[in-house]
Amino acid sequence: MIIVANLKMNLVKSDVDQYIEYLVSSGENLESLWIAPQALQIAQFKKDLKSVPIGLQNAGLTEKGSFTGENSLSTAQSYGVEFVILGHSERREVFGESPDEILKKIQTAQAQSMKVIYCVGENLEDRKNNRSYEAISDQLQILTEVKKKNVYIAYEPLWAIGTGLLPSPEDISNMNEHIHNSIGFWMEGLLYGGSVKPENVHSLKKSKHLGGFLVGGASLDPAKLLKLLKSVG
Ligand code: PGA
Repeated sequence: MIIVANLKMNLVKSDVDQYIEYLVSSGENLESLWIAPQALQIAQFKKDLKSVPIGLQNAGLTEKGSFTGENSLSTAQSYGVEFVILGHSERREVFGESPDEILKKIQTAQAQSMKVIYCVGENLEDRKNNRSYEAISDQLQILTEVKKKNVYIAYEPLWAIGTGLLPSPEDISNMNEHIHNSIGFWMEGLLYGGSVKPENVHSLKKSKHLGGFLVGGASLDPAKLLKLLKSVG
């Protein structure tokens, strides 16, 4: 199993210094760890945590061009960035990213042979109306137009992100089955994300077909991150 730390828009330089120092000096095995920091922090993570795959949390639509403020996937690839998180619900909800845009980004990442973590998740209304499976099927639709390689899928119910609320391992197992039945077995791995913490990871890890976790809040504390790594190791 892998643990992907999604650091979102957090940590100033001194925090990153301490974060990396904590991980390195722990002497723990970091083999299962991937980290997606802010683009600004990538060089430091790559320099000081050489064995850990480092990724982007989002990317520009095309490989290059006049798109002030965006991060290019071909530039990222040339700097050794190994993966990109795409379709995160915060990108969809806060920045209004459309399925077409996300599809284009996945295709651009694939042209760079970069690994993609594609996030899907239903909102609370879908869940209340028993529409969770349909909502996920809708979001999986774009995968019919991508190459069948280097794609991980992260199931992240919106109502569980940053809220402390959790689906049961059975809910996650059923959703993983649904994802497999919808698109087949070609994806590299299925991750779960949403309020994952050292206290609940033992129970969550019982979910079927699970390849790891995408972790936001708890990954900001390197002590919690190491506990998570030990639990899945
Ligand atoms: P959380 O975030 O662990 O803070 O719920 C997960 C995510 O947004 O990927």
